[in-house]
Amino acid sequence: AKMAHGIADDMLTTTVLAAGCPKLVAPAMNTGMLENPITQDNIRTLERYGFTVIPSESGLLACHDVGKGRLPADEVLLDYIHRALAPKDLAGLRVTVTAGPTQEAIDPVRCLTNHSTGKMGYAVARAAALRGAQVTLIHGPTALAPVRFAEDVPVVSAQEMYQAVTGRFADTDILVMAAAVADYRPASVASDKVKKGDGEMSIPLVRTADILGTIGPQKTHQFLCGFSMETRDMVAHSAEKLRKKNLDMIVANNLKDPGAGFGVDTNLVTFLTPDGGVRQLPLMSKDAVAGAILDEILARRG
Ligand code: CTP
Repeated sequence: AKMAHGIADDMLTTTVLAAGCPKLVAPAMNTGMLENPITQDNIRTLERYGFTVIPSESGLLACHDVGKGRLPADEVLLDYIHRALAPKDLAGLRVTVTAGPTQEAIDPVRCLTNHSTGKMGYAVARAAALRGAQVTLIHGPTALAPVRFAEDVPVVSAQEMYQAVTGRFADTDILVMAAAVADYRPASVASDKVKKGDGEMSIPLVRTADILGTIGPQKTHQFLCGFSMETRDMVAHSAEKLRKKNLDMIVANNLKDPGAGFGVDTNLVTFLTPDGGVRQLPLMSKDAVAGAILDEILARRG
């Protein structure tokens, strides 16, 4: 209320009134206080003056009531703070990111999948959203919380991911394909649970559609960044994928390098580009790698 009316009668409100920096407010109070029209008017006034108001959450309050008015968790507040302070160098760009594994059904109970956790792709989506891009995150099944400020598009199979990516491709400026998309799926999906027998068992597989391989040759204005995970001859194999899929950049890593690959919070990556460029980055957090990928894309888009 004091901030909304320019009352500066203590250290905090005096500083708020004098400071020219971005200002964020996270209202935390009793539900009745929060829902009071006076408070709601004050919140609208603060927004009109350019404050960012972080929505209150619901739950147990300090006064022991349960309801709206809880201070959001630290990571929520940090995302808002990061967004307020990040350079907006991706503003106006539509960035589509894919992340996580796909699951290819065998029967109603079982599937073929891989060990991708989605961490790298989620980090790219988050970094792009904080830097002002309009982000769509298309992801297979993961245990990660949705990325704030991004459109969330959950899918299960490679075919669903193919449809989600191609359906948005015309409206995409930058596509970062970090998902570990299955290359094969069972030729048919049993409608009932497959029962075990005594002997061996095999499942006929057919190729899934190659998403980047299909859209790479069709790209117009889009910048395409692929990922490549290898266990040997990483640079040669990745350069071949870059060429075959007509990509603008590929981010390669070797699953056998300590600190790289699935599940961990760090990555050791090499950027390959069509001009023959091969640049290895030091071991970094996946958040830092995400930032470096976006920096490289921006520099290359010109
Ligand atoms: N990819 C895709 N569509 C698929 C499979 C993969 O778009 N059906 C994308 C991945 O998201 C990644 C890149 O292509 O960006 C990886 O290239 P790919 O040749 O599929 O790599 P691998 O399958 O690991 O290669 P290989 O099996 O030949 O070793």
